[in-house]
Amino acid sequence: MDTRSYRLGCLKETDVFEVDFPSVLQVKASLIQAAARSTENLGMTAKSLTRVAADIRENDWLEKLQISGFVPEKSTVWILEGILYYLTHSHALQVLKIIADKCALTQTILLADFMNKPSTMLCNSIFHFYSDWPDHLLPSLGFSHVNLSQIGDPDAHFGLLHDPQNLFNKLRNLPRSVHTHPDDGTPCHRLYLVQASGSPNQQIPFSVISV
Ligand SMILES: C[S@@+](CC[C@H](N)C(=O)[O-])C[C@H]1O[C@@H](n2cnc3c(N)ncnc32)[C@H](O)[C@@H]1O
Repeated sequence: MDTRSYRLGCLKETDVFEVDFPSVLQVKASLIQAAARSTENLGMTAKSLTRVAADIRENDWLEKLQISGFVPEKSTVWILEGILYYLTHSHALQVLKIIADKCALTQTILLADFMNKPSTMLCNSIFHFYSDWPDHLLPSLGFSHVNLSQIGDPDAHFGLLHDPQNLFNKLRNLPRSVHTHPDDGTPCHRLYLVQASGSPNQQIPFSVISV
């Protein structure tokens, strides 16, 4: 559950939109209400939070966002966290393309996690979309800058992964084209943390869309 709107002071000038299925949004809202009743310090840190009930596989989710107050011309951070790999390839590409098209309109940042192909095999019936090379895919859709990290990289480390034999560190040290670990023949399950961006030129205030 995304609680950024309740914990990040840097969002005080930012409108946040949270997109999910209606039933999930209802549960989220009631959990937050219950937490607010039992915790004195729970207050919203974002300028605003709007929950938008939509299915991002459908064609109308962007329209639903706009009806809810999202202004496409405003600079936007799109957070697709724990979502892309649940979609089919065509739905995931459709969502990414819609966001990439915004780069021509305003300053646009995408934060997303991508599974590589072996990771989607972990649970065959749940995971679908993967990309072994999001840093190639995203520019082909319209993003101009892509930064890709793996868990354990300096910007995805959080002081926690000191042991070089740690699973994530072992994976990071293998070329990304390798799909099977040479030591033991196990599949290289990778999760890429990706930041992509694009912009026509000028900079104006941000919105945040979290799915
Ligand atoms: C693993 S969770 C990620 C949670 C989310 N990033 C957050 O921080 O709250 C995946 C979320 O995506 C939502 N989801 C899955 N498919 C969706 C779809 N087609 N349209 C909108 N939301 C979807 C699920 O209901 C679930 O809340």
